[in-house]
Amino acid sequence: MIQEFKKVSKVSGELNLPGDKSISHRAVMFASMAKGKSVIKNLSNGQDVGTTVKCFQQLGTEIKKEGSEIIVIGKGFKNFSKPSKLLDCGNSGTTARLITGFLSAQDFETTLIGDESLSKRPMDRVTIPLTQMGARFESENNRLPLKISPAKEIHPINYEMSVASAQIKSAVILAGLHCESTTSVIEKLPSRNHTEKMLGLEVKKNKSGNTILVSKINYPVPAEYFVPSDVSSAAFFVVLAILSKNSSLIIKNIGLNETRKGYLEILGQMGAKINYENISVSGGETYGNIVVESGKLNNIEIPKEIIPNIIDEIPILSVAGLFAEGDFIIKNAGELRKKESDRISTLCYNYKLLGLRVDKFEDGFSISGEIKNKNMVFNSFEDHRIAMTFAILSMLLNGGGKVDNFDCVAISNPDFLRQVQRITV
Ligand code: S3P
Repeated sequence: MIQEFKKVSKVSGELNLPGDKSISHRAVMFASMAKGKSVIKNLSNGQDVGTTVKCFQQLGTEIKKEGSEIIVIGKGFKNFSKPSKLLDCGNSGTTARLITGFLSAQDFETTLIGDESLSKRPMDRVTIPLTQMGARFESENNRLPLKISPAKEIHPINYEMSVASAQIKSAVILAGLHCESTTSVIEKLPSRNHTEKMLGLEVKKNKSGNTILVSKINYPVPAEYFVPSDVSSAAFFVVLAILSKNSSLIIKNIGLNETRKGYLEILGQMGAKINYENISVSGGETYGNIVVESGKLNNIEIPKEIIPNIIDEIPILSVAGLFAEGDFIIKNAGELRKKESDRISTLCYNYKLLGLRVDKFEDGFSISGEIKNKNMVFNSFEDHRIAMTFAILSMLLNGGGKVDNFDCVAISNPDFLRQVQRITV
């Protein structure tokens, strides 16, 4: 489906967004692993989290909706059943990477498959450390389909991560939950820390990074989870409000975890007017309302250390950079190539359509020059964040724009269009 967007003249009002995707995946997994009843409030309604729900249902977990809550009757330690079919991880990298850690420690064989995009994404980033723990895998080219055979024994490791990735860290932690002795994961640059927070893991911080400790004593127990609204979904509306004239927007109960709100800090340093209200904490996760107003932005140098913290928001930050004073440059972000699309290539492709000067690097890109072409059809490459990025850009352009294969936004935010309608004129 090609979706058309007209230029927006003003953004105003309030938005309530569905639950955070990363926290939702983990809530479903940990509730399934705990023995007995857990309750999840404000679970993400995106397709990716639906994929995690389906996989755990196939493994024997009872998961049902009751009003606005999700009730999970978890199976308990190694009490899952062998699925009768292949486990389909769809488009979801988080499902595939995290469930691989969990399945490595089960006593039955499973095979993971995924859609075309996921089947191109690397799995060796998780299978390498998990093999060191004793896990057994078979795959072609380290991609899905991935066969996971029961291990003789899963044993703890001390693992120093070479890539700052919460998915790798969490996969090792999920396997480590099945060991009597302690597994330690060392990360030099902090990646999102929801797994550690939700499991209450010990984290030792020093100058060279974080060491996360996990063993069977941290295995999940039944809990009530409240999932704050998705700070990554909010990013699209934050940038739209800043760049639209005479605008102001309140986005409610947004997750403000320190490892996720880097883009709000970057926008603040670029000159955006962003305020926070009604800050609370639930299950170790900080959340609150974001109040954002229109303003003028200046491009800044984006520090290397913050890249893992803003990795999902770089596409929409580049739109902020396009309208800011000076040239937008992002570097040290090679991980963008490992996402639902190669986001360095897919962003550059779309910016070039506008006649801008785009320079592509191995680990980033820059944009400069003037927009020359009007009313373009942007290519989503069936990547939800690329689709929403160019939807927002279209709403900021004289003459608007179109985005092809727009339906893919349902991966993280199926209500995106309705939310746009609610806050724009
Ligand atoms: C996620 C981690 C990030 C992020 C992804 C969700 C998670 O990936 O890009 O959208 O929930 O753990 P990496 O950890 O591979 O950077």
